[in-house]
Amino acid sequence: MANRLTPLVAGNWKMNGLRADLGEIAAIRDAVAAGRAARAEILVCPPATLLAEAAQLCAGTPVAIGGQDCHPEAYGAHTGDISAEMLKDAGASYVIVGHSERRIDHGESDARVAAKAAAALRAGLKVILCVGETEAERAAGHAEARVAAQLEKSLPKERWAGRLAIAYEPVWAIGTGVTAMPRDVVAMHGFLRQRLAALLREGETVRLLYGGSVKPGNAAELLRSPDINGALVGGASLKAAEFLAIAAAIGGQ
Ligand code: 13P
Repeated sequence: MANRLTPLVAGNWKMNGLRADLGEIAAIRDAVAAGRAARAEILVCPPATLLAEAAQLCAGTPVAIGGQDCHPEAYGAHTGDISAEMLKDAGASYVIVGHSERRIDHGESDARVAAKAAAALRAGLKVILCVGETEAERAAGHAEARVAAQLEKSLPKERWAGRLAIAYEPVWAIGTGVTAMPRDVVAMHGFLRQRLAALLREGETVRLLYGGSVKPGNAAELLRSPDINGALVGGASLKAAEFLAIAAAIGGQ
């Protein structure tokens, strides 16, 4: 079943992008509409300031737009935060939760990530839930245990009915240019697939994405395994040409 899942190629712009960069999203939209990555689903997660305009640019096209985080509550006195309902209202159909940069920069616990994922599902969004070990955890031989614990504790209790993807992003491979060895990625994805099947009835239908220095030159090799169902791309998603080359390597004809 897992190898029949439509791959998801998602760009996470992080805290990058001004209105002048919206042309990159328009270029992605046009290439995807022309069939450049016809076998993949394409998602771009710009910063919140660009979300509504990006969603307008991509309305009615195969390119989905997502947020990078959401608050567990629908509204309230939480200065600077954005709710899942607000993301949806701005035109998002996805949100990333539990990215390691949020877990580290904002001290987000697994329980908080689970609450955010539940909020996103409540609002009708699809969720990309991120997990991944640090370099020290891998060196100590704890990578699988760490990722398994994050997965179990960060999963929302609500039913997700096909609206959940998991991104495995080893912290040491993010933005470093150091890509995990394909065999390590394959091994971790196989492990995650087993854990998901044990945890959820629909575990086989959850897409497992890899993230961490994915580039046009390594995307095809990294994504060859049936348990790797897409990529979460940071730096290389900022320029349409690079992102599209990754999308074509994964979802081209
Ligand atoms: P890079 O592709 O820049 O390593 O970032 C990966 C990532 O964190 C995507 O969420």
